[in-house]
Amino acid sequence: MQHGVPELEDLPDPSGKAVLVRVDFNVPLSDGRITDDLRIRAALPTITWLQEHGATVTCCTHLGRPRGEPNPKYSVTPVRARLAELVPGVELLENLRFDPGEETDDPAFVAKLIEGYDLYVNDAFGASHRSHASIVGPPKFLPSAAGRLLAREVEVLLGVRNDPARPFVAVVGGSKVSDKLAVIEALLGVADSLIIGGGMCFTLLGALGHSVGSSLFEPDQVDACKALLDTYGGRINLPTDIVGLGPGGKLFDPAAGGEVRHFGRSVPDGWMGVDIGPESASTFSAIIADAATVLWNGPMGVFEDARFEAGTRSVAEAVAESRAFSVIGGGDSAAAVAQFGLQAEVSHVSTGGGASLELIEHGDLPGLAALRGAPNA
Ligand code: 3PG
Ligand code: MG
Repeated sequence: MQHGVPELEDLPDPSGKAVLVRVDFNVPLSDGRITDDLRIRAALPTITWLQEHGATVTCCTHLGRPRGEPNPKYSVTPVRARLAELVPGVELLENLRFDPGEETDDPAFVAKLIEGYDLYVNDAFGASHRSHASIVGPPKFLPSAAGRLLAREVEVLLGVRNDPARPFVAVVGGSKVSDKLAVIEALLGVADSLIIGGGMCFTLLGALGHSVGSSLFEPDQVDACKALLDTYGGRINLPTDIVGLGPGGKLFDPAAGGEVRHFGRSVPDGWMGVDIGPESASTFSAIIADAATVLWNGPMGVFEDARFEAGTRSVAEAVAESRAFSVIGGGDSAAAVAQFGLQAEVSHVSTGGGASLELIEHGDLPGLAALRGAPNA
C-alpha cells in the first residue's frame, strides 16, 4: 500500500472471482483506427496479473465525450479488437459515457455497473481526476485496488512532486495559461526553475509589456500573470525569441502561403507566434541539461505543423539526452515525444494529461481517495 491506496496484493484472493477493471482506453482514433495504443498496452500488466491469479477480467472505459448517449462514432469496437489481439479472454464493456449516469456519478448507474462482480480494480490513471461513477462508485461497495499502471503513475508523479532530485526543472507549454496557472504555481513551490513556452507564453510576455500580435492571448489572465512574474520572476524562464506566421498564413496549410519569420520577444501586428525561436530553444536545452529531475507538460509550439516543430523537438531532444529522471506529462507532450521517436529515452511517459497535472497540483485525485475508502483498505 502506497499513500494509503490498496494495491493488487491487498485484494482478497482473486481466484475464481469476477473482477471489474476500470481502464482508460480513451485512445486517439482516426477514421475508426487506433493511432496510438499506449494506453491499452499500459494496462496489460494488471490484466495479466489478475488472470494469472485465476480471476475473470472485464474491463470498462470511456472513449471520447459522447455526452450521455449512445453514438456509434464513440463505440469501443476498435479498442475491443486491439485488446483481444494483445490479451485473450478479456471482455470490454461498451463506452461508459453512453449512459448519463457515468459523468453524474449516479448511484443507480454504479449499482448496475458492479452487478455480478466480486472485486474492482482502478487502472485508469488518465481518468482518475474525474469524480465519475466508474471511478469513485465501485470502491464504496467492492474490495478494491489500484492496478499496476495507476500505482506506478502515482509513485512517479508524487515522487517528483514531493521529493525530487535537484535541480528540478519543470517545462510547461500548451495553449492556455488559464488552464495551467494553478499547476504552474504548485510547480513553483517545488521546482528550482520553470520553463514556459507554447501559446500560453504570450499572455506572460504581454504582461511584461511586449506586443503579441495575433498570437494566443488571454486578456483576463494578465493580472494573474503579472502577479506570478512579480513573485517568482527569477525562477521563470520565458522565450527570448519567437517564430511567427505572417498575415494570410494558415496553420497546417503551408499552401495557403504566409511568411514565417523570426522575432525577438515582441510579435508585430498581424503576426501570430507559433513556436519558440532557436535562441530560446538553446537556452532551454542548456537548463534541461543541468537538471537532475525534469517534468515536461505541454509543447513549445504548434509541433503538429512541421514548419513549427523545431522548438518542441529541441526540448524533447534535450529531455531525451539529459541524464535526469525525466517525466513526460501525458497528452500533447507525450504525443510529441512519440512523434520524434524518443519515448525510450525518457524515464516515464504518463498516460494522463489532465490527471498528471491535477495530481501535481493537489497531491491527490478523486480516484485515489475513493480507493482509500474501500472495504479492504
Ligand atoms: C483524457 O484523455 O484526458 C482522459 O481519458 C480523460 O478524458 P476526459 O478529459 O474526456 O475526461
Ligand atoms: Mg483531457
